[in-house]
Amino acid sequence: MTGTGRVLGIETSCDETAAAVVEHGRRVVTSVVSSQVDLHARYGGVVPELAGRAHVELALPVVADALAGAGLDRRGRSLEDPGGPVEIDAVAATVGPGLIGALLVGVSTAKALSLAWGVPFVGVNHLEGHLYAAMLDSPDIELPVVVLLVSGGHTLLVALESPGSYEVLGATLDDAAGEAFDKVARYLGLGYPGGPEIDRLAVSGDPEAIRFPRAATAGPLDFSFSGLKTAVVSYVRSHPEVANADVAACFQEAAVEVLVAKSLAAADQIGARGACLAGGVAANSLLRARFSEAFSERGLASYLPSRAMCTDNAAMIAAAGYFQLERSGPTPLDAGAVPDLQLRSSR
Ligand code: KG4
Ligand code: ZN
Repeated sequence: MTGTGRVLGIETSCDETAAAVVEHGRRVVTSVVSSQVDLHARYGGVVPELAGRAHVELALPVVADALAGAGLDRRGRSLEDPGGPVEIDAVAATVGPGLIGALLVGVSTAKALSLAWGVPFVGVNHLEGHLYAAMLDSPDIELPVVVLLVSGGHTLLVALESPGSYEVLGATLDDAAGEAFDKVARYLGLGYPGGPEIDRLAVSGDPEAIRFPRAATAGPLDFSFSGLKTAVVSYVRSHPEVANADVAACFQEAAVEVLVAKSLAAADQIGARGACLAGGVAANSLLRARFSEAFSERGLASYLPSRAMCTDNAAMIAAAGYFQLERSGPTPLDAGAVPDLQLRSSR
């Protein structure tokens, strides 16, 4: 890696086409995200075939936008010195987990650019990318931290000791946190994605109107949300007169209470200096408020990334790619995409 440590990251695992340029895994030079949420909204969820096709159309324009934001042309050369060398040191792309047809678009684009430019290709685990999002917003973060990664597909508690060194402490046994928000919202007849709708509606509800269950799990840092979702559905069925706002507020209360309590327990377990939120559900206003309150009461730092960093983006993929390249070198060009890739402890 040369002096600039400049990595182009590409993210196409789900319904966001994103590209970013990041230096040394810490400084975001440019980050472009093109969301397909409107394309999928009318179906109430992401349609894999449509996502793949949209990525094919958007990948090159989004990459070109990101390069332009870094002062580079489509060939990776400086706009001021088009005859000069390629000014990207490596190309990273999400290889999983995600939708296979979507992942392959980003992976093929990244491999093609890596070949054309003669720079390394790095295949990144999307979930590892999420771990670095808070660091990109707060570069002076003190490690180790606990990261609570809560998205539409995943719920994980991870100890991040140093860039590239992490341990998975707990995970959901069934639904992801965001999935529970989305399913409850759909049941209540709210829009898609459901998390933001529940968040909005809960403001006008009474969080003490109904007591929904907080599931116990055998692994103390694991999560389970399917019982909570079922409890909401059966309550609404037997109390059709209940106000949606009260249901939203009480569901959110139960989900957030468990997420915060287990994050605190995880921080105690590893002697963390602080904790970070990551993933789409990190945009939830109650979770943000309770999380920072709980950690500041313990005298610990809490890092709440901006909305742009919480949701899928390519800056976090470029950062993960940088650290991975430093630790374990490039990924062979014949490596494929892995739709069910898991996040495993790095040692
Ligand atoms: O990380 P993300 O953008 O995509 C992946 O799943 O990878 O997360 C999307 C999830 C959806 O389930 C969405 O409902 C949820 O994040 N979400 C929220 C909020 N904003 C987004 N959940 C609760 N409250 C929110 N404000
Ligand atoms: Zn994600």
